[in-house]
Amino acid sequence: MEIKGNELEMSEAKPAGRAAAILLVFFAAAAAITTAGRAQEAGEDPTPLVEVPRTLSLKGDPERGRKVFYRCRSCHRLSAKAAQLLGPPLGRLFGRRAGSLPQYGRYSAALKLAGFAWTEEKLDAWLKDPNGFLPGNRMSFAGIRSPQDRRDLIAYLRSVQDGMDQDTAQ
Ligand code: HEC
Repeated sequence: MEIKGNELEMSEAKPAGRAAAILLVFFAAAAAITTAGRAQEAGEDPTPLVEVPRTLSLKGDPERGRKVFYRCRSCHRLSAKAAQLLGPPLGRLFGRRAGSLPQYGRYSAALKLAGFAWTEEKLDAWLKDPNGFLPGNRMSFAGIRSPQDRRDLIAYLRSVQDGMDQDTAQ
């Protein structure tokens, strides 16, 4: 009799355990959705990034690069909140697919269909000669001739992505 009682308890415990597991999964999913929603509300960039290697930044000086970035600031900011400017925000660029920031709605077809993720090499080529690199793009910018200026700027953008508070960064 006693054994039967135990069996009964165990078979009753199983569905309860399963229900708890289902609830747990449900709460985890709800938490993930809420976090993504909050990030979007805060104007942060929810775009998924792929991992890209670190290369050119080793030779660049991010402090100098911060000043080079003044040349971009008439059209670009770092924070994803600043997507209403002429150009898309650049705070989280490396590993982002070209032309894919959801908050920015004015990409050219050329950039949207470019089909690559931003690496330091791609950015270097783009900054050297935007029109030569990707004909048909809409960035009215002649390019940066000095290789050192480009490397410094790339090092700066990389350092921003690695840890600066993008909301306070200008
Ligand atoms: C006169 C305005 C202007 C200036 C100055 C400018 N850009 Fe842009 N930039 C744009 C526009 C507009 C686009 C979108 C181009 C398109 O969709 O074809 C763009 C796109 C980009 C992209 C692609 C981003 C993405 O989401 O794929 C990068 C990277 C970029 N710019 C970097 C820079 C950097 C770095 C500088 C400074 C050296 C700079 N730009 C200067 C207007 C500008």
